[in-house]
Amino acid sequence: MKKLLVFVGALAFVFASCGDKKKEEAKPEATEPVKEEVKAEETTPQESTGGDQLAMGEKLFTEKTCATCHALDTKIIGPSIKDIVKIYDEKEANIVKFLRGNQEPIVDTDPGQVAVMKANLDGFVKDMTAEELQAVAAYMRNAAK
Ligand code: HEC
Repeated sequence: MKKLLVFVGALAFVFASCGDKKKEEAKPEATEPVKEEVKAEETTPQESTGGDQLAMGEKLFTEKTCATCHALDTKIIGPSIKDIVKIYDEKEANIVKFLRGNQEPIVDTDPGQVAVMKANLDGFVKDMTAEELQAVAAYMRNAAK
């Protein structure tokens, strides 16, 4: 009786390993790499839209009311574009980062003034896309030249 059990056990083992072999043989086909289609639009270089970006930035600067508080070279309510760009260049800071709320103000640190600009950041600037913010920053840099 014991012998029979061992035999059956061995037989089961043989069958099981046979099954395994079959699985292994089938593997290569199953793991054949799936080719991803490369979409043309996604690979278009951003630099080709340089002029468009500045035009878009200028439009947004007016439409989003930035121009109401920021003039080119005089302080209205907020610092002038030239003052902002000058200080950002000196400190190698990033305007987009500030607009995203990821960097403390460095141009005017007066709490009352900061609160005025912070209200914009929390109000409508947070709804602007990364592309729009980059366009606004590019426009400011270019205007201050
Ligand atoms: C209601 C007036 C007002 C509006 C509208 C406004 N700002 Fe400001 N902004 C301020 C004031 C006041 C400051 C000074 C406080 C400060 O520096 O954070 C400031 C500061 C800034 C700074 C410098 C931040 C720093 O590091 O100190 C940038 C950049 C800026 N604004 C960009 C913008 C852009 C872009 C818009 C439009 C999307 C905008 N602002 C709209 C009033 C305004």
